[in-house]
Amino acid sequence: MQSLNSTIQTFADPKSLTHAAVIRFVQIARDAIETRDRFTVALSGGSTPKALYALLATQPWQNQISWVQVYLFWGDERHVPPSDPSSNFRMVQEQLLFKVPIPLENIHRIKAEYPDANVAAIEYERELKHFFQLSDREFPRFDLVLLGMGANGHTASLFPGTAATHEQTRLVASPWVEEVNSDRITLTPPVINAAREVIFFVTGLEKAATLKAVLEGQYQPDRLPAQIIRPTQGNLTWMVDQAAANWLSTVVESISG
Ligand code: 6PG
Repeated sequence: MQSLNSTIQTFADPKSLTHAAVIRFVQIARDAIETRDRFTVALSGGSTPKALYALLATQPWQNQISWVQVYLFWGDERHVPPSDPSSNFRMVQEQLLFKVPIPLENIHRIKAEYPDANVAAIEYERELKHFFQLSDREFPRFDLVLLGMGANGHTASLFPGTAATHEQTRLVASPWVEEVNSDRITLTPPVINAAREVIFFVTGLEKAATLKAVLEGQYQPDRLPAQIIRPTQGNLTWMVDQAAANWLSTVVESISG
């Protein structure tokens, strides 16, 4: 199940994937800054992005980006305060934010410490509308949205069987997710699909069957929310390692690491 503007890139292992990802990240950031004077990105939690942020904070990569022109957002957040070890914000803070010269006011985190996750979602939606100067029924156009995929087919915090996967109006949702026994706060499909570039990172054999079902199986978005991600006017790239690509029959690009 691929949209026309989508590419699958396979890498020998997570390390070579991360190396290619940092090159791509820097390139998209520089292009955005050159064209529009700023780079807006929605970050993801998860293991591969963590390695990417750590690498981005090192040289030569760090110096290749004009950090004052970078605006960071989060694709999703757990319903925990920013100090919690499971907070996506905290992970990015530790891997990247403490190490790069980004102005504090460029960091737009989700206020997941609020007791009511919906209040955090409403406030984040307001923040997005203000930052992107959106009128009603408009969606923000991120330069880049980074995503991971769970072995159950979820992406961001769009989990199988949740109403958030069908959201068409709101920018941010706060679904109750039974399988993690918690609320989450997440960008909605129309926001992710409005981005210029969307990149999925998927590694590991435990995700191989799901990846095959998402990319080559029947369209079943309730079971496999990752299938909903199909940028309407942007590019979709799947960066996957050999293990995750194990069962795919349609590898478009293979990049040795
Ligand atoms: C999160 C994510 C989530 C993640 C996937 C894959 O907050 O956990 O945003 O959607 O990307 O669960 O995570 P891994 O890459 O760690 O398997």
